[in-house]
Amino acid sequence: MCGIVGYIGPKQAAPLLLEALEKLEYRGYDSAGLAILGGNGLSVCKAKGRLSVLFDWTEGGATMPGTAGIGHTRWATHGEPSDVNSHPHLSHSGRVAVVHNGIVENYAELREFLTEHGYEFQSDTDTEIVAQLVDFYYHGDPVKAVRDAESLLSGSYALGIAFAAHPDLLIAVRKDSPLILGLGEGENFIASDIPALLKHTREIVRLDERELAVLTRAGVSVYDRFGDPVEKAPEHIAWDVSAAEKGGYAHFMLKEIMEQPTAIRNTISPRIKDGEIDLGLVHITEEVIRAIDKINIVACGSASYVGMTSQYMLSKMLHVPVTVELASEFRYSDPVVDEKTLTIVISQSGETLDTLFALREAKRRGAHIISVVNVVGSAIANESEDVLYTWAGPEIAVATTKAYSTQLAVMYLIALHFARLRGTLSDAALSEAVAALEALPALVEEMLGKREQMQYLASLFFNLRDIFFIGRNIDYALCLEGSLKLKEISYIHSEAYAAGELKHGTISLIEPGTLVIALCTHAPLREKMVSNIREVKARGAVVIAFTDENDASVPAVADHVIALPSCAPLVLPSMPLIPLQLFAYYVALLKGCDIDKPRNLAKSVTVE
Ligand code: AGP
Repeated sequence: MCGIVGYIGPKQAAPLLLEALEKLEYRGYDSAGLAILGGNGLSVCKAKGRLSVLFDWTEGGATMPGTAGIGHTRWATHGEPSDVNSHPHLSHSGRVAVVHNGIVENYAELREFLTEHGYEFQSDTDTEIVAQLVDFYYHGDPVKAVRDAESLLSGSYALGIAFAAHPDLLIAVRKDSPLILGLGEGENFIASDIPALLKHTREIVRLDERELAVLTRAGVSVYDRFGDPVEKAPEHIAWDVSAAEKGGYAHFMLKEIMEQPTAIRNTISPRIKDGEIDLGLVHITEEVIRAIDKINIVACGSASYVGMTSQYMLSKMLHVPVTVELASEFRYSDPVVDEKTLTIVISQSGETLDTLFALREAKRRGAHIISVVNVVGSAIANESEDVLYTWAGPEIAVATTKAYSTQLAVMYLIALHFARLRGTLSDAALSEAVAALEALPALVEEMLGKREQMQYLASLFFNLRDIFFIGRNIDYALCLEGSLKLKEISYIHSEAYAAGELKHGTISLIEPGTLVIALCTHAPLREKMVSNIREVKARGAVVIAFTDENDASVPAVADHVIALPSCAPLVLPSMPLIPLQLFAYYVALLKGCDIDKPRNLAKSVTVE
């Protein structure tokens, strides 16, 4: 997500911070800014757009003299990309400047509290609250002010803070978002990630949860959440810059796969308050939600498979017809939608042209539009009645992973929220489902533990020419995504079939040695899947099957079994995808493919 840098030392801070921010560009950003501690307190410059804009405005940093400061590249979450929403944010008194990575979940309450105390706000961001709150608690002791403010924040945050009255120190503190310190000779640094520091130092300290660091030119002191000093042994970094950009992973795709627990947590937890879901819809009222008599989901590629997976869940939970349409087909299909239709538009980039045009078509016919989008301020977000952002952070690899998982998480939230409003789920069932949702990040973390098993299976099958995926119900929708993931990065031909369709044609393709990946997670149809596995095995297929860890029927017939944790049906679809992503990744790796940039594909498809 956002990139944070901070410097205190003998050199001019602004040019150094601009250069350090360049090293964090890979994280994706839409705006950038600096706050420099100079002779006249804090000076701030921030600009929407590329770093080059900030570079030009500050003449490479020359217009902002001073030897300490903080800098930021912003990936918008709250409030669209703009100069005013960019970081650093200054408190209204101008005494405190803050850069932030993460999401402050209780920002609305804090904003109200501060407004009552006479604070005025310039931006739409959650971060400005932090600057104002620190200012509110500042009575001469900067560390105490940060601690008092920080103790009121819920959500995730990595913060770099500068005080106009204290030009000789910077403060850093973190919870659930990354932040490291760089140790130099007579100079010290803050950064979101190692590449920003490598030019200056290879000695780093990683801040642990809720640790707070005070940086001066002479050194760095770290304190735990109780204010007690903590001894931190520096770590020596031997990586080169390109490895460091990927957090030590060989590819962005693998990094993004591993980021899924955090991405899902960021997407879900701000929307669950005291056991109840609050989607924060602004325009679509509860009356509209109750009156909807049809939902149609439009999207392309993986996003459409999120739609297919959700279709089963939404229609079952809400008792309304739900259709999923490929955006490129929908726009030309003379669709039957009206003011009683809710159109859910799903898109990571928010710029996919077919999806955008499908949205416009649905809107023109009177449908209500909610979009599920990752990129704040994108065209699809802007043209929707309401937007639910997936706060997955920038996704760099062409093959989507964390965007897919967070889109699915948003669909769970929609299903539960609507079920409550429409009275289609009992209170007890709702509370159980919300608890299951809260436990999802930990389950996804557990699924990442399948990494070695999937690497091993990839080593057995990476040289095949064709691979088949079979499943029923939700498992069929998941097969479509598993198959797409594999083919787009490994160039192995693969097909996903509804298992019941096998004997209507496809089974003629099965021959000795054919790999069939069978998803058997949907318990009501598991016995049917066992029969389908027997059918393909009888023709010589080798079967990798996914099933519940307590199931014995599938392991009795499959060659290899991926055991999934028993979990609530609501979140079950999130489980198999993680090992399937890993399988595709390792197959492509063994084949030597260009994993992050597969041939012929673009991350964002802005042409028809
Ligand atoms: C998936 O791995 C692909 N990169 C692709 O199918 C993608 O999901 C599709 O192009 C839709 O993109 P969007 O989510 O940005 O609209």
